[in-house]
Amino acid sequence: MTHDPDFVVPETEDFDSPHALFKELRGRCPVAWAEEMGGFWAVTKHEDICRVLTDWKTFTTTVQNVVPRVATTQRRPPLHLDPPGNIPYRNAILRFLSPARIEGWKPMVRAMVAEHLDRYIAQGKGDICEDFSFVLPIALLAAFFRLNPKDAEEIRRVGAEFNMALQRQDFDMLRERSDALYAIAARLIEDRKANPQDPDQDPVSNLLAVRVDGEALPDDKILGALRQFLLVGIIAPTTFIGSMAIHLARHPEHHAELTERPDLVPVALEELLRLYTPYRGFARTARHDVELGGKTIRAGDPLAVVFTSGNRDEAVFPEADTYRLDRGETDLVTFGRGPHMCPGAPLARLLLAETLEQLTQKTARLTLTAEPEMTRWPEYGPLSVHLVLTPR
Ligand code: HEM
Repeated sequence: MTHDPDFVVPETEDFDSPHALFKELRGRCPVAWAEEMGGFWAVTKHEDICRVLTDWKTFTTTVQNVVPRVATTQRRPPLHLDPPGNIPYRNAILRFLSPARIEGWKPMVRAMVAEHLDRYIAQGKGDICEDFSFVLPIALLAAFFRLNPKDAEEIRRVGAEFNMALQRQDFDMLRERSDALYAIAARLIEDRKANPQDPDQDPVSNLLAVRVDGEALPDDKILGALRQFLLVGIIAPTTFIGSMAIHLARHPEHHAELTERPDLVPVALEELLRLYTPYRGFARTARHDVELGGKTIRAGDPLAVVFTSGNRDEAVFPEADTYRLDRGETDLVTFGRGPHMCPGAPLARLLLAETLEQLTQKTARLTLTAEPEMTRWPEYGPLSVHLVLTPR
């Protein structure tokens, strides 16, 4: 599993440099091999990303899900299973994310954003990631899974440590923190077995109630699914909120426009989700030799579907590096495509739109006071954004 390298993964990055690299790759070598992080193909064009994600018979999810490869022991459905094995687990969570359910979450999300944002704005300055965006998605997750405050706090701590270990590529720590998340998931399952809740209201009780051909789902797979659900929705909103803040600080005219016209928030959010797509390293593995983007991918080769790049592909988005609110319907890959497309997207959009609206209603200006600290693969976005906030 090695090829002549087409590019080198940079040791250090800033907020803009990944976009410059991906633009260069889209022009020169849209499917590009790198030796770093175990060796992988970076798939950078929108069309190729969609092909890899929809042709799951050729590109399986059962081997490696992110670049760099995180070697943990168990497969976690639904993301780690190809169809049809993924479907019962996916349906179990989808049920809680229908448009009617999301509508019901609105007042709660609004209050949750206000509680955390007002506290941060009152400080007058600080790191929006540490003081706000690390905390908010976990509060939402805790409510979504009806966690008790002790488990919610533990997930907040362990989730943050897991994220840090991933950023630093400290794989021993990563395994240890992953085990700690498994332990929380196992406790939650035991609790729901002992104290069953209404499966129509409680996602864990619903997973336990699923029957396929009359059989309950296997215990180890339920555990894996819950472990995945507990983390998957936390990381992207954390870095993405940091990216939104950097954009507003760099473009006070866009901030002012949203303050003046809160009705533009939904379309502005879509444009920001396009420009600063938080995932670049979700992965698939080729089952057999196949041609893609002029390259021969060998059986067993991992491919990273670089969403962060596909959303700036000039073939699909004219003036791709420019913030424009007149694009109309857009074909974003921010939330993936195909059988694993993010079921949490409506909830994520609700949380992020509420954040963008309240941030631009409650502040007149954001000023960056330090260079942001950046995440690494498999994410894109800042880990810290120090700001001075001018309240309205
Ligand atoms: C900005 C926020 C988010 C982004 C950008 C995002 C993005 C993604 C992407 C790209 C995938 C597909 C990965 C792949 O095909 O390999 C995915 C899967 C998934 N996401 Fe999200 N996500 C976000 C928030 C959330 C939230 C809030 C939840 C929970 C409610 C969630 C739950 C999931 C689950 C369960 C999967 C696996 C789905 C499956 O395999 O069928 N995500 N997400």
